[in-house]
Amino acid sequence: MSHILVMIANRAKINSTFSLKDLAGSAGRLDVVCRVVLSFQESKTFDTLYLVLRGMNVPISLVLQKDVKKFYTEQEVALDIKSAILGMPSRFSLLNMDYESVLESLSKDHTLVLLEETGSDILSYSLGNDNYAFILGDDKGFLEEQILYMKKICDVSISLGNIPYLSSQVVAILDYVLSKCIEVI
Ligand SMILES: C[S@@+](CC[C@H](N)C(=O)[O-])C[C@H]1O[C@@H](n2cnc3c(N)ncnc32)[C@H](O)[C@@H]1O
Repeated sequence: MSHILVMIANRAKINSTFSLKDLAGSAGRLDVVCRVVLSFQESKTFDTLYLVLRGMNVPISLVLQKDVKKFYTEQEVALDIKSAILGMPSRFSLLNMDYESVLESLSKDHTLVLLEETGSDILSYSLGNDNYAFILGDDKGFLEEQILYMKKICDVSISLGNIPYLSSQVVAILDYVLSKCIEVI
């Protein structure tokens, strides 16, 4: 059983304006991405995280496995993302893929679950003993065109209620719910 998280971050970038002291302002809300990484590493049920960063000239994806050495600060995460982008040693692997290619590839062996406030209540959806890839937006959510694409490719759209949680909070809540489902399977 594999549980994957995919975060689509539409503005996150590392370029000449990048400053570790201002991840929010200088790097297209890379702080939001870094907090998702920290939350993923604290989770019990997710094995792999895909970060799709779309704020640079060319979209890229980074993959982080659960078993790598932990990060403790947002700055540490940001520096390691920068290393991966520059082709230097990093805990992240770099893929030259935008979100469509990532999702298409994952759809071969995972049930794709779109996370949105307007989806079906997670408690009414029976999460089985399957491989799942959960797709999460950034602080501004998904673009209209992304929603249209994902409505076609995703198997289900799921909500954690009508509160718009921070992306990193969604990871923690989902992890809790998944851990309960796995317990009873
Ligand atoms: C800060 S929210 C984005 C809020 C943004 N205003 C919007 O309209 O999508 C970040 C992401 O977390 C997920 N999310 C936040 N709250 C959620 C909820 N109650 N149920 C399901 N997913 C949620 C969604 O994937 C969302 O794109």
